[in-house]
Amino acid sequence: MQKYKINTYGCQMNVHESEKIAGILSELGYVETNDDAEANIIVFNTCCIRDNAERRIGGNIGALKPMKLERKGDMLIAVVGCMTQQEGSAKALKSKFPFIDIILGANNLQDLKPAILNLKKSYINVPQIEKPEIREDIPILRTGYPNAWINIMYGCNNFCTYCIVPYVRGRERSRKKSDIIDDVKRVLDEGYKEITLLGQNVDSYGSDLESGRFSDILSEIAKMEGKFRLRFMTSHPKDFNNEVIDIIASCDNICNNIHLPVQSGSSKVLRDMNRRYDREKYLNIISDIRSKIPDCGITSDIMVGFPTETDEDFQDTVSLVEQVRYSNAFTFVYSPRKGTPAARMVQLPEEVKKARITKLVDLQNKISKEISDEYIGKIKEILVEDVNPRYDSSVCGRTSCGRLVTVKGDPSMIGKFYDVEITSSRSASLFGEIRGTK
Ligand code: 5AD
Ligand code: SF4
Repeated sequence: MQKYKINTYGCQMNVHESEKIAGILSELGYVETNDDAEANIIVFNTCCIRDNAERRIGGNIGALKPMKLERKGDMLIAVVGCMTQQEGSAKALKSKFPFIDIILGANNLQDLKPAILNLKKSYINVPQIEKPEIREDIPILRTGYPNAWINIMYGCNNFCTYCIVPYVRGRERSRKKSDIIDDVKRVLDEGYKEITLLGQNVDSYGSDLESGRFSDILSEIAKMEGKFRLRFMTSHPKDFNNEVIDIIASCDNICNNIHLPVQSGSSKVLRDMNRRYDREKYLNIISDIRSKIPDCGITSDIMVGFPTETDEDFQDTVSLVEQVRYSNAFTFVYSPRKGTPAARMVQLPEEVKKARITKLVDLQNKISKEISDEYIGKIKEILVEDVNPRYDSSVCGRTSCGRLVTVKGDPSMIGKFYDVEITSSRSASLFGEIRGTK
């Protein structure tokens, strides 16, 4: 039996893309393995948003060279995803690692099947199309039960000056509402308990369609029968729509969890980043959310070291983080991406970036821990998602706000809802005891 292994880098969006790669490969008769030595195809599903992922991917492909030279056609190597989509990247990859068999772009996964079936020497196809068509015919092998991820749109129109995504993923394209709703019905019929709608900027869903807005999709799904949860990501503060707050507040099955990346707390840096909102507008959205959904878990992406960020600007980020008190935040050091406007600016010294990220991470850890401590003694509903391999006989799940909770248990609990009394906390995660089953 032919086996596949997929190495996924990057965000949730890519984890879901890997489910499509798995869908294509399983239709071709492949089954999954975790062992390079038994894999007949190894797919690198890449990400180029930040340079550390890119460097890691290069190292991991290089490490396969001895095995590939020995196993030759018995082990195909394919590289797909947004890293290959950068100008000159496919050529550079093939010359650095001539043993790669297949290189595809970020928007033509459907070519994986013909590439494998018709492979001669090698297959390289990375189309540079601004608005690639949406393919609804790619099979999906879901691997995240009880979570089902569903794309509502692809690409991005925003051109934040630091970001490579619009160049490699193309312009924004919204899926038809009926296709999204059909997917949701299907996964609910299959027994999935949590649905996460995915898009780079979910609030602008539908702007390229004749009809359909994000809030319509949310309310239509929330009305569906059965016990399940609905999440979505990512929201953009420039397009964030207050209607969405009202819908979350009025629908029990939409999680009280909003991922609203701020990137910087300085209005000047936000302007230089082309984010098209300022500190004040962002803080107004936060207070609207807090007033209508008091226990909302708000999370963020925050960047330090953008070229024009002064010490004062960084201080603005610190004070914003202190004011908002994110339940959790992804913190990044800015890294220049070739072809983006910010990469052409004068860059900050590494030690400045390092000092800032350390300070920011320490601050957010402190806040995360304080918020965790506030949960102790409370009863919260969780959906058990997986075993927690770090502790004996333990499983973990999330509260509606998105906080991870570990309880004693076994894999039979995965996909079920429990009421849990929170008994202790460690940084952003909680521990508890089951008090009831749903
Ligand atoms: N450097 C560092 N972080 C980046 N991000 C996007 N581009 C860069 C970059 N060049 C971060 C942003 C975004 C998240 C997905 O990745 O914070 O929200
Ligand atoms: Fe990148 Fe900005 Fe688009 Fe997010 S909104 S993907 S940061 S360009």
